[in-house]
Amino acid sequence: MGVEICVEGLTKSFGHQVIWQDVSLTLPAGEVSVMLGPSGTGKSVFLKTLVGLLKPDCGSVKIAGRDITRLREHELYEVRKLFGVLFQDGALFGSMNLYDNIAFPLREHTRKSESEIRRIVLEKMDMVGLIGSEGKLPGEISGGMRKRAGLARALVLDPEIILFDEPDSGLDPVRVAYLNQLIVDLNAQIDATFLIVTHDIASARQVPDNIGLLFRRELVMFGPREELLTSDEPVVRQFLNGRMQGPIGMAEEKDATQVEQELAALGDGDTTQTPGSRALTPRLLPGPGITRPPRWEAIARHEAELRHRKAVADA
Ligand SMILES: Nc1ncnc2c1ncn2[C@@H]1O[C@H](COP(=O)(O)OP(=O)(O)OP(=O)(O)O)[C@@H](O)[C@H]1O
Ligand SMILES: [Mg+2]
Repeated sequence: MGVEICVEGLTKSFGHQVIWQDVSLTLPAGEVSVMLGPSGTGKSVFLKTLVGLLKPDCGSVKIAGRDITRLREHELYEVRKLFGVLFQDGALFGSMNLYDNIAFPLREHTRKSESEIRRIVLEKMDMVGLIGSEGKLPGEISGGMRKRAGLARALVLDPEIILFDEPDSGLDPVRVAYLNQLIVDLNAQIDATFLIVTHDIASARQVPDNIGLLFRRELVMFGPREELLTSDEPVVRQFLNGRMQGPIGMAEEKDATQVEQELAALGDGDTTQTPGSRALTPRLLPGPGITRPPRWEAIARHEAELRHRKAVADA
């Protein structure tokens, strides 16, 4: 049932530029996690480090107990089969039609017959609503179709871990809603561990079990969805509410006095004046007929959180 990914003390820099430092988090097996953060905070770099495409300066990434930052290239090749990755740009081969693009990992990594490959490719294309477009080239289809083709390709090897880099960017709101439902349904069906990078707050509120936020070279917070959605941490609240007021500015750094003034003007200490900003959006459920196996760890965590809050309220 999916694999746990345990990240500890991870730091990555390019030359003198530190991208993020001392990042520690656990992506629980079979759960959906979302990673948020302003543009340029290194979310794509984080995904690439998890698959072993980039080497961190220090820290570890343990997958099924093995630290992948220490593996040699041929060992990594094996570990990578556990992953399905949807890169930010879709990363389709421009000269191959959709069918061949989606079949590529199967031809590359398995010895399956062409008829078996055909069955798998068509099944995944059906899953993402691309049946009938097998012969189209990536250049001949819309951005949304390219995203879905990238997703189908990420699924063909029945991955234990799926990483999505902005699967919803460039999609219209209705397609985003369909994509979110597809992600929730997929997670219920294939039971893999998901990590999604997104800028879409509505998706981040509804889809995951856990949310993380990268900001100013650090992981500000990572935890159960409920915890972040109701958090008082200013960076988390600003980001989840898509506001200009708060610590996050265009150039990423804002003057502390300015932040204080902005938050005071918003009446941020008082929830009654910022209605809905701490609202606990319901989680999107799998479609009819799809049942998600119980996530016992998540349920236990959720109950502990509720007990903790009750204790705080009672005190
Ligand atoms: N291979 C690389 N070599 C040098 N610098 C890099 C490399 N890849 C990324 N960077 C730098 O790392 C920083 C983070 O980049 P990254 O693409 O991870 O941001 P991001 O959070 O995914 O942004 P966005 O939300 O816009 O996709 C950027 O400053 C980028 O220039
Ligand atoms: Mg990115």
